[in-house]
This record gives sequence, C-alpha cells and structure tokens, in this order.
Amino acid sequence: MQDNQMNLADQKRKTVETVELTEDGRYKRKVRSFTLRTGRFSGYQRNMMNNHWGEFGLDFQESLFDFKAIFGNDNPVILEIGFGMGKSLVEMAIANPDKNYIGIEVHTPGVGACIALAVEKGVKNLRVICHDAVEILNYCIPNESLSGLQLFFPDPWHKARHHKRRIVQPAFLTLVLSKLKQGAFVHFATDWENYAEHMLEVLQAEKGLTNTSATNDYIPRPDFRPLTKFEERGHRLGHGVWDLYFTKI
Ligand SMILES: C[S@@+](CC[C@H](N)C(=O)[O-])C[C@H]1O[C@@H](n2cnc3c(N)ncnc32)[C@H](O)[C@@H]1O
Repeated sequence: MQDNQMNLADQKRKTVETVELTEDGRYKRKVRSFTLRTGRFSGYQRNMMNNHWGEFGLDFQESLFDFKAIFGNDNPVILEIGFGMGKSLVEMAIANPDKNYIGIEVHTPGVGACIALAVEKGVKNLRVICHDAVEILNYCIPNESLSGLQLFFPDPWHKARHHKRRIVQPAFLTLVLSKLKQGAFVHFATDWENYAEHMLEVLQAEKGLTNTSATNDYIPRPDFRPLTKFEERGHRLGHGVWDLYFTKI
C-alpha cells in the first residue's frame, strides 16, 4: 500500500466540512447536524477505505457530479444521508440492481465498514461520500436529478436547545426538493416520536410533496426498507418507529 493511500482515510476525517471564513478571516461557525465522534476506526475499516476508495468513493467537489459518468448507466439515483455502518444501504443496493445508490456519512469507521461490506458482496451500484450531506447537496447534486432521498434514524438532538441541529428543517427540505425529479420519493424514518412529529410538520408544509400515507401521517415500515443497525438497537430498548414517505408532485 502506498503512503498517499495510507493517508486517505485519516485525511477524510479532517475534511468532512469545508471551512468558510468571515470577511475578517475568522472561522465561520455553522450549525451542523453532526458532531464528529471519535469512535474506534479499526485497521480493517481503514484499509478497506484506503484500498477501495477508487471503486467506491466520491470526493466533495465544488462542481456538479455527472451520474452517468460515475455509474456508467442512466439508472435512477437514490441518495441516502447518514448511512451509519452501511448495512441496510448495501442490502438495498443488492436488492435493487437497476438503481444506483449514493450514501453520505461523516463517520469514517462507518464509511470503511460500508465499503468493506460492499466489496465482500461484490456490489457495483453504490458510491459513498465522506462529507457533510448539506454541502454535498448544495455543491455536487444537480437539480432534478435524484429519484429518491432516504434518511433513516437521523440524530434526534433530544434537547430543545439542540433542535436547531436536526437535519430536517424547512430550508433543508426545500434544498432536497430542488434535487428531486418529478415523482421522486422522500423517505424518512425515526424512533423518536417528537422528531417524527417535527418531520411530518415540515414535510406537510412543503406544497410540492404529497403524502403516501393512507392515514395522512405515517406508514408502516415497508418491506423494502431493511432494519438498520440503529433501529435494531432501538427495538431492544422498546422504541417505536415512524416511517414517512412522500413523493414529489
Ligand atoms: C443515529 S445515526 C443512524 C445511522 C443509520 N442510518 C442507522 O439507522 O443505523 C445518524 C448518522 O447520521 C450521520 N450524519 C449526521 N449528520 C450528517 C450529515 N450532515 N452528513 C452526513 N452524515 C451525517 C451521523 O454521522 C450518524 O452516523
């Protein structure tokens, strides 16, 4: 393994957000939906990320991605934000070979674990990004290019004074909507009721979306959404789960 490859995974940990400076040169503090956890980054995860970044990794860039060039086909592209360790994302990519998946995660051990699983399973229709998803949406995703956006168990930021850090906000949804094709879906899931209510409120306020729920609120967990790692933990703790599934008009 070359030295520059050795450094890639560790470098990524430090570059998940682009630094913006104020006019007088000071660091511009932004409200982010994540804190960078210092969880264990195993040698295996690091090596898988270093050795297979060329096949699976996409780097942040200040220009739009060309999905056809990336995947070599015109298949629908589904974007998942915050895939954690990537188990459910890899399962979905395997179950839907006629779709392309892009997963975004800032937690490098998760990125390494996801790549490792994708390599093990021989997945071809998946790319991963290690960067703040809001910046990726703003800079890299062309307007009206996605067939779906999925966000499973985003950090709930329980305390009221932290609610501003929740990724689902009206401005976030407007940004997401601009990236979706007509008929594309938005699929959110959470195990935190108060966040589910907030998600529903934000989604319902968006006139460009229609709710697929028969009861005009939540849907039962669809079979096509595999259980996620975080959700399995929630089940053990006796948490409920709320799925929200809207489509763009
Ligand atoms: C609670 S975990 C859930 C992970 C996974 N979806 C699951 O259900 O097991 C939320 C994940 O979102 C990631 N995350 C939060 N904000 C993000 C952002 N702006 N861009 C990319 N990833 C983000 C966190 O690093 C974390 O791994």
